[in-house]
Amino acid sequence: MTASLRLHYLAAMGIDVWVARHPAVAAEPVPRAQAWKDLQHQVAQCRACPLCETRTQAVFGVGNEQADWMLIGEAPGQDEDLQGEPFVGKAGQLLNEMIRAIGLRRDQVYIANILKCRPPNNRDPQADEVQACHDFLQRQIAFIKPRLIVAVGRIAAQNLLQTRQPLSQLRGVQHELAGVPLAVVHHPAYLLRSPGEKAKAWEDLQFALSVYQSLKQ
Ligand code: URA
Repeated sequence: MTASLRLHYLAAMGIDVWVARHPAVAAEPVPRAQAWKDLQHQVAQCRACPLCETRTQAVFGVGNEQADWMLIGEAPGQDEDLQGEPFVGKAGQLLNEMIRAIGLRRDQVYIANILKCRPPNNRDPQADEVQACHDFLQRQIAFIKPRLIVAVGRIAAQNLLQTRQPLSQLRGVQHELAGVPLAVVHHPAYLLRSPGEKAKAWEDLQFALSVYQSLKQ
């Protein structure tokens, strides 16, 4: 990694870096906005796993880059792959309602996925694909510095927490990822398939809200 790339990387990690261009000259900050753009560019160009062959485009993330809440789903589906934005299909509409249920709008949170590229036929992400995207997601989290991470669905939760525990054991518990509190909610696609479970999703959201409110005190 070149010195300049390394500095942009550190800036994307949220680490304030000062570049001494010349020992005698005052230090100069690496622009955060540039570091974020660089990260977006790297994701867009990524060819680290075979999903790059079948994607229409990589799906970086969307929302408020200074959000307190960061929602992390599984992977883009067909609509997301075509539009280049996470959670824009039917599941996305329900996710928007879930966000409204905690008193927020979609543009007040940040939404990303574990995988940036769509797995063919929406199959589950494979370990090598998750690994290939790991650094991108960590850099997004470090840049946004959310106060609360919400893992959307079992697959996101299991990958983020590196566990095989079922969703029933992961929900309703305050976890932690890289020092950030993390709560797990049901995936909206699951709720569309099993509308009878919506009450549980409501409980998940209330739990996430209570974790967030406890941080503010
Ligand atoms: N499901 C996800 O987990 N993420 C998306 O972006 C869309 C559907």
